[in-house]
Amino acid sequence: MKVLGILGSQRRDGVTAQLLQTVLASVDPVHETETIFLGDYDFKPDTKEQPDPVLDELEQKLLESDVWVIAAPTYWRALSGKMKDFFDCLRQRLVRFDRHGETHPDRFKHKHYLSITDCYTGTFENWVTGVTDQSFKTIDQVMTAAGVIRVNEIVMTKTWGVTELPAAKKAECIKRGQQLSKLQTKDDSTVKRYLQLFVMVAVMALAAMGIQVGLGLLPRAGFWLSYGSFVVIFFALLASILHFATFMKHRRK
Ligand SMILES: Cc1cc2nc3c(=O)[nH]c(=O)nc-3n(C[C@H](O)[C@H](O)[C@H](O)COP(=O)(O)O)c2cc1C
Repeated sequence: MKVLGILGSQRRDGVTAQLLQTVLASVDPVHETETIFLGDYDFKPDTKEQPDPVLDELEQKLLESDVWVIAAPTYWRALSGKMKDFFDCLRQRLVRFDRHGETHPDRFKHKHYLSITDCYTGTFENWVTGVTDQSFKTIDQVMTAAGVIRVNEIVMTKTWGVTELPAAKKAECIKRGQQLSKLQTKDDSTVKRYLQLFVMVAVMALAAMGIQVGLGLLPRAGFWLSYGSFVVIFFALLASILHFATFMKHRRK
């Protein structure tokens, strides 16, 4: 697995860079990591005549990686200009357009991303007024259009004068980095988990309905039909609610 950090700050060694580096440094070393500082890349929008060679290079890096850590400060209550410009220039390549001009996920579908932003505003004021909300919303909108799956987000407030990350924020970044390491394994075992759930439902239903038959609370006639239909319906409902709670609901808080 490869994790790509994309830094859209004006400063290559500022708070955003430290948050990003702490996450990447915590990724299990069996996985490859790389950081790109967007300030080093003079990309331009593609034209009909000429695709931009710098975008070609960046696009290749995006294609080669499985997880993107998108780190950009909040400027003027919105995503930093460099990151926004990157998304804008990359739009034609991030999505596929149908004949009505509507966008659809394309080659980046099913990759994952973690977003990071920060601001001078204090934690309480940010919570009440949502200074960093627009930054996350912009990232989420672009990624959703491209079919990239959200893993989590990190926000750091009160960055004025900060030269080193506070211990709690460092710990959060380390935790998120470690979670990224497990991402592949987690995805691969999803089908296995649902199969295990099915077996558990089948065994527990057999035990419960067997007891009911033993106590005379359920007729013996037609037992296997009742049992089979109960297991299938119960499993379908349980799997749907679990899928909603663990996946859909966490797409955007
Ligand atoms: C152009 C610009 C606009 C900014 N706008 C805001 C803002 O609207 N609200 C805020 O709380 N902080 C704002 N900040 C502060 C940045 O969010 C802060 O500098 C950031 O946390 C530091 O990231 P860095 O260390 O990676 O540069 C702004 C900073 C710059 C340079």
